[in-house]
Amino acid sequence: MTIDTSHNAQTSSNELETRATFKSFGESTKQDWDNIMVQLQVTQSRVADHIIEQLEYLRHDFGGFPVNRLEHCLQTATLAQRDGRDDEYVLCALIHDIGDNLSPYNHASVAAAILYPVVSPANHWLVEHHGIFQGYYFWQHIGLDKDARDKFRDNQYFDYTAEFCAKYDQVAFDADYKSEPLEHFEPLIRQFFAPRERDGELIN
Ligand SMILES: [Fe+2]
Ligand SMILES: [Fe+2]
Repeated sequence: MTIDTSHNAQTSSNELETRATFKSFGESTKQDWDNIMVQLQVTQSRVADHIIEQLEYLRHDFGGFPVNRLEHCLQTATLAQRDGRDDEYVLCALIHDIGDNLSPYNHASVAAAILYPVVSPANHWLVEHHGIFQGYYFWQHIGLDKDARDKFRDNQYFDYTAEFCAKYDQVAFDADYKSEPLEHFEPLIRQFFAPRERDGELIN
């Protein structure tokens, strides 16, 4: 698979943008930042495309599993959707392993960071901690404590996250399951990551 990152259309539209001339933030002006903040929304308008592209990178990556990493994501989301979960939950199910090929040992945090601005605290916590909760099903095979999740027993989202792994994540490795294709979930991705009013929202 070859993913085109040239973004010709975006590049040509960017040629019309006003660019600041400062060499350091310290010498930047309010006018510079008025222009930059407009461009930030342009960047946000491309996030959905970038998420879809990043999911595509997982299509040919099996990592030794019975299904490729994209199929695992699609299967997790399809199981959740067919079980009647709402759109936000399905989005989290779809994206929860998007960081597998960016930070294999910390992939849950990658997905959680991407989802943080658009999902509830419960769903953010679920995604951020799903890795250690998944461990309940296999960590005994790799020399780790399968009950490591127990340190979160008193957390209000413990059962919620355990349920996600039990019903959708740890079972989504079935090569015979007929998942929805990525195209099926694209409207959901575009809906949640579309630009919106962000007055007063921190940029960090
Ligand atoms: Fe994961
Ligand atoms: Fe997963």
